[in-house]
Parts: sequence; structure tokens; C-alpha cells
Amino acid sequence: EQVHVKKICCIGAGYVGGPTMTVIAEKCPHITVTIVDVNPHRIAAWNSDDLPIYEPGLEDIVKAHRGTNLFFSTDIDKAIIEADMIFVSVNTPTKTQGLGKGFAADLKYVEACTRRIAAVAQSHKIVVEKSTVPCRTASSMRYILEANARPGLRFDILSSPEFLAEGSAIRDLHDPDRVLIGNLDTPEGHAAAQALVEVYANWVDRSKVVTTGLWSSELSKLAANAFLAQRISSINAMSAICEATGADVDEVAHAVGLDTRIGSKFLKASIGFGGSCFQKDLSNLVYLCHSLHLPEVATYWKSVLDMNDFQKRRFAQRVVASMFSTLTDKKITLFGFAFKNNTGDTRESPAITVAKYFREERANITIYDPKVPDRQVWLDLTEPGVVDDEIELRKTVSIKHDAYEAAEGADAIVICTDWEEFKNLDYERIYKGMGKPAFVFDGRLILDEKALKKIGFRVETIGRSG
Ligand code: NAD
Ligand code: UGA
Repeated sequence: EQVHVKKICCIGAGYVGGPTMTVIAEKCPHITVTIVDVNPHRIAAWNSDDLPIYEPGLEDIVKAHRGTNLFFSTDIDKAIIEADMIFVSVNTPTKTQGLGKGFAADLKYVEACTRRIAAVAQSHKIVVEKSTVPCRTASSMRYILEANARPGLRFDILSSPEFLAEGSAIRDLHDPDRVLIGNLDTPEGHAAAQALVEVYANWVDRSKVVTTGLWSSELSKLAANAFLAQRISSINAMSAICEATGADVDEVAHAVGLDTRIGSKFLKASIGFGGSCFQKDLSNLVYLCHSLHLPEVATYWKSVLDMNDFQKRRFAQRVVASMFSTLTDKKITLFGFAFKNNTGDTRESPAITVAKYFREERANITIYDPKVPDRQVWLDLTEPGVVDDEIELRKTVSIKHDAYEAAEGADAIVICTDWEEFKNLDYERIYKGMGKPAFVFDGRLILDEKALKKIGFRVETIGRSG
């Protein structure tokens, strides 16, 4: 029978759960959406004026619907009991210990909420896997639900991976390229998928809502992120050739991208990709390949990660080499610490790796980012394996909240994040306050190299010879 969804519960109030459910509440006034989380601070922040994540456009929509048909709560059991459809949107980080450590996805949070659903549900539920998970995770969830639920209670499992990118989440959710829904090939599975199709059909053209088998849906998410990351590693590999030959990587990307078979997006060379997902999902895919006894396929995808590490290292080496092979006691100012523009998120940010290299060269580092909170910078740089002593760290690292102040007295500016505001700074003014020769290292190809050189800067840009 067809389920008409009236109440949705989303477990996990993070970068995915928060924006995704906010947009569902916005577009479906007839559905009540409750987002729950084990972290009371996060829920309190969602209920405050200071939301826990920065995402352009998000705040206005949250404020317009919060308390009407959008709720944030720590009462997980109540939300599960009341909902007809439950999204699982918890984090699935890379395992840091045990089998597959460094590669496999840690599914403990997914399992914990699956068990919770089984323990408290009193009626039929459609459970939607929103988290990014290894292929066939839905099957484990089904076992857990069926083994622990009240007798006679049925659950339907769907996979509906999320494709939003941070910084453009609201735009991506309002106007997605596609919405993917995977279901089991049973009458109940198709009916459950149809219920979710109807939710999205409130604002997404039906032709863009694609239904597939469960396993295809799960694998498509890993595949999409692997293809996107692979494009960046491919252009970054080209950037190294450009620097050695005099070709310009932006020109190469433009020329290559005009081929409609290739396309122009995701061909921007950089100091390397960051973010919570590319590294994690590729590692997850590599692990999956190994577990399926496909070592050649694993090696293929692993090389995308290796190229990314190489790019970050190569960029840091270029900085050192350009600055007369020593950074000792020099002041290096990082413009940007987030992993991309329009977000305060620093997970796997290449700026962290680059800062680590500079610290090893005994440089003094000043960091300016328009959105990253100070405490996050300290956390990232004191992470075990990077540097563990915050007192020591504060002797050589400082954080400023103004680009001009951060650049004062610096020997070099290193562009780590592609924030729009970095393009529009008064570089004449910055130049005057810097040590000479004043260097700019553009790791994002966003600055006007010619104009900077005219001012007097020595400029080194990714994908261009110096
Ligand atoms: P996140 O860390 O921002 O949020 C996850 C939330 O889940 C946290 O607030 C955590 O407290 C909560 N949680 C964990 N276990 C819980 C439990 N048992 N019960 C209740 N709450 C629990 O993570 P995220 O960035 O939103 O990512 C979530 C998933 O979505 C991941 O699988 C990720 O790969 C995937 N994804 C992320 C993005 C992105 O842009 N960040 C995009 C697409 C897909
Ligand atoms: C990425 C995907 O784009 C989303 O579709 C996916 O849902 C998400 O991962 C996920 O699964 O979490 P996100 O990591 O938020 O989204 O941001 P991207 O825009 O993909 O950027 C990732 C990294 O690649 C950033 O560091 C960015 O600066 C870098 N990048 C991106 C480049 O270096 N060059 C490019 O051309 C594009």
C-alpha cells in the first residue's frame, strides 16, 4: 500500500541532515520534520541564533520554519516512534583502528541508530540511508532491524545518498542534478521508494528523481565522489607538467573542458582537494575493492589519493624552494583555512597539511579565514600526529580576524582557500606592510598574477611556471 509521509525523523543534525531536512520542511509544509542528534550542544545551536554550521541561505530558511514544521531535538526515541520515514544521516568516518584502519568506513554510528530504531519503533517505518556507506550496508541494516524488532513489525530500507556540496548546499538541494533512490526489487520496496519520490516531487522535477536497485544506489555515491576527485587529481597532475613546461593549467583546463564529452566543471587545479568526503569515500572504495579481491581496481583509485598527497607536498616544496630554501623564523601568512570557499568546515583541509609542512620548516604562521572559528584551527593543528602541544603551537602560530592585519610583516602570503574576498583585497597596501622580497603563493589560481607582479610581489601560482 502507498505510504503518504506526514512525519519525518532525521537522525544526525550535521552538514547533511541539517540542510537537507530544512529544505524538505521548506518545500513540504504538510510534512513535520524533526532532526535529532545525540549531541545536545549541536541541537541547542540549531535552536539558537548561532547555527552550528555556516551555509549560505540556510539561516533564513531555518528561521522561517523552525517551530512550525521543522524541529531540532535530543529526544531521539520520541521522534522515531512518531515518524513514518526515518533518515539516517550520521557520520561515517574512516576507521582509525582495527581491521581496515585508515581505509574502511566506521559504521558504528549507523549501526547504533539502526538498533535504536529497532528497539523503539512500534509501527511500520521506511528507513532511508542518507549517510555515505559501503555497498551492501542496507543489507546489514535490514538484518539488524529484523532481528531486533517487535514481532510482525515491517521495515523498508531505501538508499538515498546525498550529493550536495558544502558552501552550495541550499542551491544544490533546491535544484539538484538528480535525486537518487535505491530500493529492494519487491512490491514493498517499490512502494517505499514511491513514498520518497512523492516527498521530492514537491519541488524536484520527476524526471530528475531516479530510482535504482539498492546496491547501485549505494555504489553510485562512492562512484560519483571517486569520479569528481579523480578529475581534480587529473588536473593537478597536469599542473605539475605545466609548471615544468611553461603551459598554463587554467588554459589547458579550459581547452580540455570545452570538449562536451569532458565538460568544464571540477577541472580547477589546486593545492589538493579537501573536505570530509573525497578522502574518506575514496579510501572506503579502495577498501571495498580489496575486500572483493580486486587489487588492480583498488590501486587505480588509490592513485587518486596519492596524487592529492603529492600535490600538497609539491606545493609546500615550491614555497620552500622559492624562499631561498629556508623558512626558519620567516612569517608565512595563510589566507584561508577552510577546505573550500563559503564554508567554515576544515575537515581534511589542505591548509592543515600545508601548515604542518611549514611548521616542520620552523616558520612562524599566521592564519586568516573569514569563517573558521579559532578553536577549530587550534584543534586541527594540535591533532595527534600533526603537533600535540597547544602551548608550544601558540608560540609559532597566530590567528587574525582581518586579512590586512594577518599580512602585516609577513614574508609570504599563501592562498589556501578560494574565498572570493581574497581577490578583492588592496594588495598595494598589503605589499607595503610586508617583508621584502614579498612573496605570494597562489594555491588556488584566484589572483591576478600580472597585477601583483606590477606591484612588486614575487608570485608563484599552481600550474604556472614562476
Ligand atoms: P556530521 O558529523 O556533520 O553530522 C553527523 C551527526 O550525527 C553528528 O552531529 C553526530 O552527533 C550525529 N550522530 C552520530 N551518531 C548518532 C546517533 N547514534 N544518534 C544520533 N545522532 C548521531 O556529518 P555530515 O557531514 O553531516 O555527514 C553525514 C553523512 O553524510 C556521512 O556519511 C557523509 O559521508 C555523508 N555526506 C556528507 C556530505 C557533506 O557535504 N558533509 C555530503 C554528502 C554526504
Ligand atoms: C563533494 C561533492 O562535490 C558532493 O557532490 C558530495 O555530496 C560531497 O563531496 C560529499 O559526499 O560529501 P564537498 O566536499 O562539500 O562536496 O565540496 P567540493 O566542491 O566537491 O570540493 C571538494 C574539494 O575539492 C575542495 O577542497 C575544493 O576546493 C576542491 N576542488 C573542487 C578543487 O580543487 N578543484 C575543483 O575543480 C573542484
